[in-house]
Amino acid sequence: MNPEEQHKALDAWQTSARYWDKYRVLIAQMFAPLTSGLVEEARIGIGQKVLDIGGGSGEPSLTISGIVGPARSVMYTDPVAGMVETAQAEASRRGLTNVQFRQCSADDFPFADRAFDVAVGRLSVMFFVDPVTGVREALRVIAEDRYVSFAEGRNWGRI
Ligand SMILES: C[S@@+](CC[C@H](N)C(=O)[O-])C[C@H]1O[C@@H](n2cnc3c(N)ncnc32)[C@H](O)[C@@H]1O
Repeated sequence: MNPEEQHKALDAWQTSARYWDKYRVLIAQMFAPLTSGLVEEARIGIGQKVLDIGGGSGEPSLTISGIVGPARSVMYTDPVAGMVETAQAEASRRGLTNVQFRQCSADDFPFADRAFDVAVGRLSVMFFVDPVTGVREALRVIAEDRYVSFAEGRNWGRI
């Protein structure tokens, strides 16, 4: 994807952010099995520090915040301001204090090497500028011998 295509794609996500917010309950129910699969595959449990890549209106960050416990944290990321705002507002409504928010793309994380235990992404990897770079970045920022888990939509996006 060239920079112009990426710009257009992010504009489209910005436009759709309010619909992801409006239909969040339905979306959460529809994709709950994917969230369970990510949690299982990445071996997420209490006490872990989790990175969510392309968190959209807040999932799976919001669900995982209840799994890792109040003493540990989830770092929600998404490159689209509207998505970050809706996710942050929902976390506040729920009174969640262990989710942090960062507007950034999967291709260039502003995080130190091994800053997290594990990383997950629900239905976002297909939209990365370069999925290989995104996966490399995810591996860079997690602990050695831990897991990165992505749920992808095969006919949605480019891969
Ligand atoms: C289909 S939505 C999925 C959102 C959420 N994870 C969910 O399952 O409800 C795809 C998300 O990928 C994000 N995205 C697009 N390009 C991205 C990139 N380069 N890096 C990370 N996320 C990206 C979009 O902004 C959007 O929020």
